[in-house]
Amino acid sequence: MEMALILTLGIWTLLMGLLVHGQGGLKTGFYSSICPNAEATVRSTVEAQFKRDPTIAPGLLRLHFHDCFVQGCDGSVLISGSSAERNALPNLGLRGFEVIDDAKTQLESLCPGVVSCADILALAARDAVDLSNGPSWSVPTGRRDGRISLSSEASNLLSPLDSITVQRQKFADKGLNDQDLVTLVGAHTIGQTDCQFFRYRLYNFTTTGNADPTINQVYLGQLQALCPPNGDGSKRVALDKDSQSNFDVSFFKNIRDGNGVLESDQRLWGDSATSSIVQNYAGTIRGLLGLRFNLEFPKSMIKMSSIGVKTGTEGEIRKVCSKVN
Ligand code: HEM
Repeated sequence: MEMALILTLGIWTLLMGLLVHGQGGLKTGFYSSICPNAEATVRSTVEAQFKRDPTIAPGLLRLHFHDCFVQGCDGSVLISGSSAERNALPNLGLRGFEVIDDAKTQLESLCPGVVSCADILALAARDAVDLSNGPSWSVPTGRRDGRISLSSEASNLLSPLDSITVQRQKFADKGLNDQDLVTLVGAHTIGQTDCQFFRYRLYNFTTTGNADPTINQVYLGQLQALCPPNGDGSKRVALDKDSQSNFDVSFFKNIRDGNGVLESDQRLWGDSATSSIVQNYAGTIRGLLGLRFNLEFPKSMIKMSSIGVKTGTEGEIRKVCSKVN
């Protein structure tokens, strides 16, 4: 009898271990007893900032993505310093640091030394999507903050010039498949980019001096008007021309119709595996019958938010998000 009990308990512990391991040792509601107001504090901070400036939502979502792809989701992107990640070229346009700092200050007075900056960022990204009329989900928490942040490691990040092969490889290196790639890039349904990151597609893209032939002709004229050859390279343009503050599937319809802004986004339509996923999200009938973006985005986000997380006794709980203790 006793033996059977021990055996059952053993199997149960193993199963739970496997389950938890799938999310890198994280669990939903990690703070529910040790800092019950943690999630609500992050939410109210993001919400207050969002009311003043809704473009903070895409900023926070991208910040979390860039955190996860370098040293795992450990808040390393938040650390300041001349040789820190934050100073690497692909990170210069990141926004939303002050929102995370604000939430952290409040949480340090509520529950000192308990809530990690990495978790605040993961929760803020979820809240940002929700506030933009996107889906919501339970974020597994329990991440600890890393102590390493090096700009030289930012080469893991993606470039808008990356081919589909490179995009696929960089995502695969993080345990993410084609389905995750297309779904997560769907984050470009909100937010903007600088003219400088895609203007090369509008003029002299090919040796004959033409624009990128995959750009829809009508849209090409509009983009050229927004970004003239010698105009301001830092001018902001919506990544989803139809609804830049609404988290919906119009980004995928735009990719299908040659209305993608970033070259990397438009390349998702040029590969048979990724284009069928784009088509699935974009098409009304197939979208209804097939995979739905609103259901798939949370799943892929939970995967991305678990990349290389530090848990248990690894890392630390930073006192201030911009520097190690
Ligand atoms: C192949 C992969 C990706 C590439 C090449 C890429 C590249 C870019 C570039 C160049 C920008 C414009 C930055 C600027 O002009 O300031 C941008 C913006 C953005 N990216 Fe991505 N990205 C990728 C994947 C993702 C993923 C996986 C997410 C999140 C899950 C994401 C979220 C965002 C958001 C929300 C913005 C708008 C930021 C804002 O308005 O401030 N991106 N991305």
